[in-house]
Amino acid sequence: MQPAISVLGMGRMGSALAHALLKAGYPTTVWNRTADKAAPLAAAGAEVARSVRNAVDASEIVIVNVSDYAATQSLLRDGAVAAALQGKLIVELTSGTPDGARETQAWAARHGIGYLDGAILATPDFIGTEAGTLLVSGPTDVFEQSRAVLGALGGNVQFIGEDPGLANALDSAVLALMWGALFGALQAIAVSRAEAIDLDMLAKQWTATAPVIEGLVSDLIRRSAAGRYAADGETLSSVSPHYGAFRHLIDLMAARGIDRTITDGYEAIFRRAIDAGHLHDDFASLSQFMGRSESP
Ligand SMILES: NC(=O)c1ccc[n+]([C@@H]2O[C@H](COP(=O)([O-])OP(=O)(O)OC[C@H]3O[C@@H](n4cnc5c(N)ncnc54)[C@H](OP(=O)(O)O)[C@@H]3O)[C@@H](O)[C@H]2O)c1
Repeated sequence: MQPAISVLGMGRMGSALAHALLKAGYPTTVWNRTADKAAPLAAAGAEVARSVRNAVDASEIVIVNVSDYAATQSLLRDGAVAAALQGKLIVELTSGTPDGARETQAWAARHGIGYLDGAILATPDFIGTEAGTLLVSGPTDVFEQSRAVLGALGGNVQFIGEDPGLANALDSAVLALMWGALFGALQAIAVSRAEAIDLDMLAKQWTATAPVIEGLVSDLIRRSAAGRYAADGETLSSVSPHYGAFRHLIDLMAARGIDRTITDGYEAIFRRAIDAGHLHDDFASLSQFMGRSESP
């Protein structure tokens, strides 16, 4: 028999999670602070709890998806709710920090509550589809017992490790990649507008060069993992040509008065690496200058 599941938080993501659980046949109870947001879920067959405590009472597994961990705390760290959660499982799918997840796991352990922490690497439209990606960390046996339920939320559920902070840590790393691309796109839009380039043309070039950029990023990660910073026969590009092309971009931006907040950061990293003698090393040598303060 399918276990009953409660979902706290019926925002965009929480609603998608609850819909996916219903679609997979799980008896689903939902709760939201603003009650009317639960109406579409009621229409789809979910029970609507009148309180967090009622939602916790209804199921053995409680999925939480609210704005942040402070909101989760305000819902769960109430004596009666915590007592009702004893012996049950919390699956925290709210975005947060690694330390936030570790602290929540420690609180749950003190109250005899099982805990898995997850990070959703998808927008709501991917939830419940094969391409939906969910990173999960916590005790291996608890993950294995919950695998089917988590699988209803997305076809790409990945167990990251027992440290409950790992899912959020990897999520932040992937978001750093995503914002690199998005802020890069903002920069490209500013350059295109200043030079009267049609943005449709920019979109077309993005599609054409995306595989090249994907290859560069994958190569950078692999070489950084192996510490292969010196240029070798497999080097795609050393620092030198990157920096030369970067200077052309800076000259263009200076000539057109384009904001250089982001590129000033690039310049600082390039300079650190070049001043340390890496001009002719692989671009991956820059990864030594983006780390913690003990970087060379
Ligand atoms: N949307 C995405 O593409 C996406 C992707 C990955 C991860 N996430 C993560 O999923 C979580 C939810 O995102 P979302 O897009 O669903 O946001 P959203 O649409 O803004 O919904 C936020 C939810 O949190 C609830 N909430 C906020 N503060 C609360 C509090 N103090 N007490 C009780 N409930 C509270 C809201 O309740 P009310 O309705 O009463 O305001 C609402 O249900 C976030 O951690 C987000 O980072 C979202």
